[in-house]
Amino acid sequence: MRAFVFLPALCLLLPACETASPASSSAPTYYQDVAPILAAKCVGCHVSGGIAPFPLDSYVAAGPMASPMVDAVTSGKMPPWGAEETDECTPPKAWKSDARLTDAEKQRLSDWADAGAPEGDAATAAALPTPPSLTLENPTAQIRPTSTFTPTAGTDVFMCYSFDPGFTQTEYLTGLQVVADETSVVHHVLVGIDSRGTTASDTGWYECSGGSLGGADQLIGAWAPGGSPLLTPDGTATQMDPGIRLVMQVHYHPAGATSFGPDATGFDMVYSETPPTQQAIVSLIGNASTEADGLLPGDGDPSGRATFKIPKDTAGHVETMEFPIPAGGPYSIFRLGTHMHYVGVDELVTVKHKDPLPNEAETECLIQTPHWDFNWQRSYQYDAPIADLPQLREGDTLTLRCTYDNVLTNPGVQQLLADTGETATHVVRLGETTDDEMCLIGAGLVLP
Ligand code: HEC
Repeated sequence: MRAFVFLPALCLLLPACETASPASSSAPTYYQDVAPILAAKCVGCHVSGGIAPFPLDSYVAAGPMASPMVDAVTSGKMPPWGAEETDECTPPKAWKSDARLTDAEKQRLSDWADAGAPEGDAATAAALPTPPSLTLENPTAQIRPTSTFTPTAGTDVFMCYSFDPGFTQTEYLTGLQVVADETSVVHHVLVGIDSRGTTASDTGWYECSGGSLGGADQLIGAWAPGGSPLLTPDGTATQMDPGIRLVMQVHYHPAGATSFGPDATGFDMVYSETPPTQQAIVSLIGNASTEADGLLPGDGDPSGRATFKIPKDTAGHVETMEFPIPAGGPYSIFRLGTHMHYVGVDELVTVKHKDPLPNEAETECLIQTPHWDFNWQRSYQYDAPIADLPQLREGDTLTLRCTYDNVLTNPGVQQLLADTGETATHVVRLGETTDDEMCLIGAGLVLP
């Protein structure tokens, strides 16, 4: 039935075929059933001038796209959302601002496509929901570059911007949101604290590797297009001391983009002098390079000695690392982001509790990103009050399992080779640059 999908497009050109509509009266229609789904889940990006390559905000635009939309949604490619439930992983809490379609919404979209994408009646159109707000309310500061950088068409680059927020006393951060300017080229953004305050540069920006944070030592935010504002749980905040600088790393990916100007991407923050009841921090955990650091012996390691080494032309290579949780907890996890580079395809994060609480599984899967895409990295926030968040306690063991497909059929490897100008895969090790790999998480933790 999918073949009917192009009929509405033809009908736009050939009014005579209007009577040949294949829609049955019970089939879902654009105005009654589909437009509200698209408005809530797609149009934020798929609008003229948005980050997606084509709009989906009218019948003329969405009708001919019915079948590709079903394919993109069924395959999980759209909307971009990395944290999935799998046979191996059911996270303990739902995610805030979950962008995915419900099964019923997927069914409606696919029934609509099967029926030939009928338009329905605009006069009795269903009300459109307001998409979730992507802006931070009442920012205390809006940090923008004073001197802008213009990427070169076709060339990926990681640019770091260092800002002096001018803090003369300790401030407590409760909200952060990246505000992308040249949306067709800004692929993702990280924000961190340079606690020594040594990253100043003449222009305010400098090239920095995709694997490092350009001199910052504490990550406070990770953003990809469509990401909601980062808000610490009520009563918690992240401490920012006087004298620090803030570093923003922008990954420019001007692949197909042709018209863009100097980029003034920045970020908004909400902070105050009022100390919180509890501290919130982002902790980077992972990247163990030796057994002493927590790397487990695995695939292809010589005589059981743990080595982080991804052989060339090998799919499904696994590296696993374990981290004992130190004293000082419990640490309540409110947000998680996985992090690998281009060769990575799947990251799974579990915790084994030494003494499980009632209602707590002995081993909990915290997050899995089984279709890892470097270009869509972001963090995911649990939708639960602090008391109900998953916890890490002394004696627990956190395990990261990262899977890599170091083969030419991996789109990430294709992108990597296009960026480096190479044509064959090579051995990949743990490291800072984008042609090295990582196995890392950024965990937003509430301290006791
Ligand atoms: C966060 C932004 C964002 C949201 C939300 C989003 N898209 Fe996209 N979409 C994109 C971008 C960007 C592309 C271009 C391909 C890429 O970069 O991966 C794209 C590509 C597509 C494509 C082409 C797929 C392909 O294989 O090339 C389809 C179809 C699509 N989107 C449908 C949808 C639908 C349907 C929804 C809502 C259910 C949706 N998108 C939500 C950003 C988004």
